[in-house]
Amino acid sequence: MGRQDRSTELSNLDRSSLLHPFTDFKHHKKQGGRTYVGGEHIYIEDADGNRILDGMSGLWCTNLGYSQDSIKTAVAEQLEKLPFYNSFFNCTTDATIRLSQRLSQVFPEAFNHFFLTNSGSEANDTNIRLVHRYFDLIDMPEKKLIISRKNAYHGSTIAAASLGGMKGMHEQFTGLNYVHHIEQPYSFELAENLTRDEFGKQYANKLADKIDELGAGRVAAFIAEPVQGAGGVIIPPDSYWPEIDLICKQRGVLLISDEVICGFGRTGQWFGCQTFGYEPDLITFAKAVTNGYQPLGGVAVRDGIAEVLTSKGGEFTHGFTYSGHPAACAAGEATLKIYQQTALLEKIQSDTMRYWAEQWASLAEHPIVGEARSQGMLGALELVRDKDSTTRLAPDSQAAVFCRNSAVDNNLMIRQVGDSVISAPPLIINREEIDLLIHRLAVALDATAKQYGVNRN
Ligand SMILES: Cc1ncc(COP(=O)(O)O)c(C=O)c1O
Repeated sequence: MGRQDRSTELSNLDRSSLLHPFTDFKHHKKQGGRTYVGGEHIYIEDADGNRILDGMSGLWCTNLGYSQDSIKTAVAEQLEKLPFYNSFFNCTTDATIRLSQRLSQVFPEAFNHFFLTNSGSEANDTNIRLVHRYFDLIDMPEKKLIISRKNAYHGSTIAAASLGGMKGMHEQFTGLNYVHHIEQPYSFELAENLTRDEFGKQYANKLADKIDELGAGRVAAFIAEPVQGAGGVIIPPDSYWPEIDLICKQRGVLLISDEVICGFGRTGQWFGCQTFGYEPDLITFAKAVTNGYQPLGGVAVRDGIAEVLTSKGGEFTHGFTYSGHPAACAAGEATLKIYQQTALLEKIQSDTMRYWAEQWASLAEHPIVGEARSQGMLGALELVRDKDSTTRLAPDSQAAVFCRNSAVDNNLMIRQVGDSVISAPPLIINREEIDLLIHRLAVALDATAKQYGVNRN
């Protein structure tokens, strides 16, 4: 069977059997989608033989690309030795213990206890359970409310989606009644005449107002992503996070940093909380911890909280069959070893990140780009018709969808969120590959400008 026939066959089988996440089922049934059959370095290959530069690191997780043999070998060897045992009822595996030791080395100093899950969503469910348990143990059982932000993404289980603030998701289910949302620090749309500094402080203080409205005695925690990823790479002003940190500390509210995207180098430091200078009580992680090669997530718990949890006694009635799965933990350990042995973060700090920031910023000159923002190895472009008034190019985010599709047709994987397009390339990308990414994106911007009648001056 030729490649084209095989590709068509796969597409037909896909359409007849798979219900895809975050997909319009009807549209997919009719149109089908893309099937990927290979990956090498920072490229993915689809069933038609296209070699696509992966500007999204899979789903923000293959930070080291697709060719890390030591991770693949570690998983294979673990499967050979002990393919499964669980961590319930005081048991665990040696691979699970080794990963937790390795995690202690890379997390901020005060984080030495880890509850493992299979995903970021499960980790955020776990956060709620841990936070409620913590306040019960210190005799403050009335502290049960959680505050989050509009347009946040914290996962897709009912609890994680309740924490999230995605309108389209909330329209399809009933959220938990003890989760409340405040406005996000999206300066491009909301800052109006405020300076970035003023805007950051003002929007952080929405948390103080909400805690005061609900009563600090009832609020258990605030959860947020350092940079909102799925919400459109929303980068808060420098003044935002220190203010949030202070508000939480002053009011006795735990701070949960959801680092499922920002963790493991994405913002330039190991964790986003280090980049933005705040001290969370709990850190959610997943995705890049195994370079996406195995499903694994978890919650890192600050020493003071862990001390309460581990000294008061009584069973914590929560966990998953595959919490601490040995093959996933072997992948995690091998992944973190690569970060450490190749001094990856030093490299991106001294070179890649700066080059990325410069090249990304150069796109701001394009006539349909209203803002080109970046942080670490993240970037977003706001697409506009008129740079001065920030008027959008077309209703219903059509222009950003067109731009994303043009990029993918031109062998660059990026993502569209609302009226912006975003990118989060593997951290191992080099300068020439950044040039190629920016070039392909500029071609897609040109095509979008042409499609929507904006002249390139
Ligand atoms: C910040 C954040 N939290 C949680 C999740 C959910 O993780 P998972 O898809 O592994 O459940 C995601 C996924 O993109 C995320 O971006």
